[in-house]
Amino acid sequence: MPTVTEILETMDYGPAPEASGEVMGWLKARGTFGHYIDGAFTKPAKTFPSADPATGAELAKVAQGSEKDVAAAVKAARAALPGWSKLPGHERAKWLYAIARHVQKRERFLSVLETLDNGKPIRESRDIDIPLVARHFYHHAGWAEMLEEEFPGAVPVGVCGQIIPWNFPLLMLAWKIAPALAAGNTVVLKPAEYTPLTALAFAEICAEIGLPKGVVNIVTGDGETGAALVGAEVDKVAFTGSTEVGRAIRKATAGTGKKLTLELGGKSPFVVFADADLDGAVEGVVDAIWFNQGQVCCAGSRILVQEGIAETFVTRLRARLAKLRTGDPLDKSTDIGAIVDPVQLARIRDIVAKGEAEGAVLHQAEGQLPATGCFFAPGFMTNVAPANIVSEVEIFGPVATLTTFRTPDEAVELANNTRYGLAASIWSENINLALDIAAKVKAGVVWVNATNIFDAGAGFGGYRESGFGREGGREGMREYLSGPVPRAKPETAPARLDAAPVPGAPSTGTAPIDRTAKLYIGGAQKRPDGGYSYAVTGKSGQIGLAGLGNRKDIRNAVEAAHKAGGWGRATGHNRAQVLYYLAENLAAREAEFTRRLKSAGTPKPAEEVAASIRRAFYYAAQADKFDGAVHATKSAHVTLAMPEPFGVIGIACPNDAPLLGFLSLVLPAIAMGNRVVAIPAQAMPLAATDLYQVFDTSDLPGGVVNIVTGARDELAKTLAGHDDVAAMWYCGSEDGARMVEAESAGNLKLTWCPPNRDWSGPGGQGRDFLLRATQVKNIWVPYGE
Ligand code: NAI
Repeated sequence: MPTVTEILETMDYGPAPEASGEVMGWLKARGTFGHYIDGAFTKPAKTFPSADPATGAELAKVAQGSEKDVAAAVKAARAALPGWSKLPGHERAKWLYAIARHVQKRERFLSVLETLDNGKPIRESRDIDIPLVARHFYHHAGWAEMLEEEFPGAVPVGVCGQIIPWNFPLLMLAWKIAPALAAGNTVVLKPAEYTPLTALAFAEICAEIGLPKGVVNIVTGDGETGAALVGAEVDKVAFTGSTEVGRAIRKATAGTGKKLTLELGGKSPFVVFADADLDGAVEGVVDAIWFNQGQVCCAGSRILVQEGIAETFVTRLRARLAKLRTGDPLDKSTDIGAIVDPVQLARIRDIVAKGEAEGAVLHQAEGQLPATGCFFAPGFMTNVAPANIVSEVEIFGPVATLTTFRTPDEAVELANNTRYGLAASIWSENINLALDIAAKVKAGVVWVNATNIFDAGAGFGGYRESGFGREGGREGMREYLSGPVPRAKPETAPARLDAAPVPGAPSTGTAPIDRTAKLYIGGAQKRPDGGYSYAVTGKSGQIGLAGLGNRKDIRNAVEAAHKAGGWGRATGHNRAQVLYYLAENLAAREAEFTRRLKSAGTPKPAEEVAASIRRAFYYAAQADKFDGAVHATKSAHVTLAMPEPFGVIGIACPNDAPLLGFLSLVLPAIAMGNRVVAIPAQAMPLAATDLYQVFDTSDLPGGVVNIVTGARDELAKTLAGHDDVAAMWYCGSEDGARMVEAESAGNLKLTWCPPNRDWSGPGGQGRDFLLRATQVKNIWVPYGE
């Protein structure tokens, strides 16, 4: 014990541990935990321990879920679905309120349990995690209440399989379960193997309030249990965790028709400009990378500092680092708790050591770490080359990299120099600069002069390999509302779909039309790389020839699309003007297009052309009207939800309605600022190739729409696997959809395989297409305080 004099000299805090007696008593009384299935805890068979990482002490034994357990849970969820989904929203809201209140009543208990199981400081579980859990259920009770009014006609997806990580155990559970239940789905959730205990306490809350049985099921276990859940008869899989597992899940669900959302890793930039409030930014680093021991998917793990202030910033950062207290997570004055598990600690040590071996210099907080338990002193690394492992890999521990930049352009380049795109934090007192950078960083969440703020009212989720889908707010609700993914219906002309392209020499007069339609790349007509063409047959035989594109043509088209990036930065008004012009030019050629479709033998040529013209006017009208929102979050921020284009979208078009199907997909994509590489109807590509002249006369910049004709599935495969394609839409066979979804796992691009439909009907156009063509960036800007 220090003397009073010593205490006055150091002004150090004494220990202030939070009492854990109640929780320990609860754990002892429960003994070994089974799964929570159909409203009751099962008798555990095979079990594994869950330990306190701060001491290594075993807290409880929990059941290792088998395929049979998962199947039983899914069956219970399926049985509960009709009753739960048919409840009026108001009734479901009452259940969600009841959950929120019970969480609130047990805030202290749940905080202590979370801290014991995960190792995070009690200050964080008590002030951040658990209050946000309650907030999430309250917020979503509201969505249930207003569901019919806010999402007219929407139906729940069905049974949702949800897999969560260990870094925010109960909060991630809330992020998954609250929107699912509000929308009328039932769930089977698997918590992470390191941290299952608060999920089991949550199951008790469900039982206590009398939530209808089967609506929430919790199955504990490791990755094998998770894989079993992915493979089970669920309608949707929602996953948060590592990019590696996300990729495996993308492959496993390919072609199954299961809806999928993935919230994966990040390597988020934390950008400090010379004019920033430096003390504020230093405090920001504390919250960005030392919060939750750095085990945060959106952690500001790459600090980028403008050169002129780098030295001052590093000095202040070191001084702040020296004041952080690492130790007993239950101590109320602990800043840095324990790493979740010895496996994770070893992983952090390994990556940091490799980084040092590659030349990086580690600056770590000094002072004693507890002698036992999973502790790692917080710090940051300098002298890091871009290719150093610590620059690229998610350390998922309390260690950031720190590098410098000179100009705002360089900052953007460095910020975006990652496969990920989850979050970014920008520090500057100059609002013009901060918002300019916010627009340019590729990230789903951007905080201006702040970091790691979360709220149920705002969407959260990533760009690029950080996954797809959003959680929170209106955006998150949509992910649980579109109904089960309809299975693809065969196209009405399956024989033509499967007809192998017939290689032929350029027409020598044997074809009725003495012309081969070329490809359209970068605004110019191009001969296919291989020099081949294929016969296009209409009602009465061959009506023309089309270029037979190959992989190289696709790659050239993607490159051209990339170069046309200015289209994404053009205003909605500018894009609208071009699309109006395009619509007018199409209208001027109505008779010509009708003749073309007639010769192709499509069922209603005149109607199809007329509908195509209206579609062009519709998306011209939408180009400057489909906009975002300002979310009402609970801190002093305006949270701007901005729909942004993906970049390059690959589109494989349906064989039915060769003109209307093509335009129904391509127009919404470009109206929102994307550039497109489209594969027109394989059986009848000439309706699309006739559009070249329309595009040329409409001021559509070269490269915005690129067209490669040929064997649809073969070309779609190259597009789906291409790393510079950010999203892929595929309209065709079930096998083709499976192939596209599996190929997309490489860069985890978003895929959409809309089932074949009546393109002239109401399902052929609308806001849904525009939602598919955009991803939301949530930008948090300080406001009003
Ligand atoms: P993980 O991705 O393996 O675990 C997350 C969840 O997925 C757990 O519930 C786990 O049981 C489950 N899971 C594992 N394999 C699965 C499979 N094949 N199919 C279905 N579910 C499966 O993450 P892990 O191994 O715990 O951590 C490794 C690294 O992943 C961390 O160091 C960190 O870099 C990253 N990570 C990122 C998270 C994020 O929020 N973005 C969260 C957790 C980890």
